Amino acid sequence: MGVVGCGLMGSGIAEVCAKAGYATIVREIDDDLLTRGRQRIERSLETAVKRGKLSESERAATLQRLSGTTRLEDFAACDLVIEAATENPDIKRKTFKELDQVCPPHAILASNTSSIPIIQMATATRRPDRVLGMHFMNPVPVMPLIEYVRALTTSDDTLAVARAFGESLGKRIIVSKDRAGFIVNFLLIPYLCEAVRMLEQGFASREDIDVGMMLGTSYPMGPFTLLDFVGLDTTLFIADILFDEFKDPRFAAPTLLRQMVAAGYLGRKTGRGFYNYEAGEQPPAR
Ligand code: 3HC
Repeated sequence: MGVVGCGLMGSGIAEVCAKAGYATIVREIDDDLLTRGRQRIERSLETAVKRGKLSESERAATLQRLSGTTRLEDFAACDLVIEAATENPDIKRKTFKELDQVCPPHAILASNTSSIPIIQMATATRRPDRVLGMHFMNPVPVMPLIEYVRALTTSDDTLAVARAFGESLGKRIIVSKDRAGFIVNFLLIPYLCEAVRMLEQGFASREDIDVGMMLGTSYPMGPFTLLDFVGLDTTLFIADILFDEFKDPRFAAPTLLRQMVAAGYLGRKTGRGFYNYEAGEQPPAR
């Protein structure tokens, strides 16, 4: 297994692959990012042990199966590579072109993109039949779903092998066609944007909207808690891609969201989003 990128998603993907028994190599652009990614995985495995989800020996074996590199050339023995780099179409196309040159001809190349059409990556390679989307959910070690995206060029064999692989990680698989937003974000992003519009219009407080969805529909988190968790920048990025593709006002990012991103209020990762964690605020509990 190869994983490109060891940020929030890449480290989670590497962790679940290594935990499932696959020798896993992760590429980051420098040693510092590699170290931080490995520490994130170590912390998550520690939590899994504390929660009784993993034995001490499984944790040690998982860490042994994981290695890091800064060179894509080290992916020469990979049967499957999952790319989880920055959501930038040019960077992704370049990465896929390089992976195609380095990986064995039978290798399947997947992207964890949440929004960019898979066909753009597939056509950067000489194996467009062996390219697909594997969209993991955050937090990867906990969320039981992977959303697969089948490009026009993806073959039945590729999908079958990828499905068997995803199930071997203990995840449920759903399959979407190659259209912006796929299944989950096509529904989730307008919902999150609508919650921001409600707040913007002074219709209700952030707490009441969060509690309404948590206790009224049993969502694990209300929309503002989830926005802070996913990242306001990530949500805005996906909303803009959806709007570009469909030109539908449902996907138009609210001004408040755009301004908060401009201000650097990106959510939990910056200490402030819709809730100000730095100032000690916490979203409402269930
Ligand atoms: N490894 C393995 N298991 C772990 C773990 C770890 N590192 N950390 C926690 N767990 C387990 C816990 O033991 C617990 O298991 P149990 O239910 O069997 O007891 C379970 O995971 C839940 O953990 P917690 O009790 O710590 O946490 P909560 O119950 O508060 O749930 C949450 C946290 C899972 C984040 C929940 O609030 C949730 O589901 N929130 C919504 C997340 C969501 O919607 N994600 C998708 C975002 S959209 C996306 O990713 C797409 C992108 O393109 C935008």
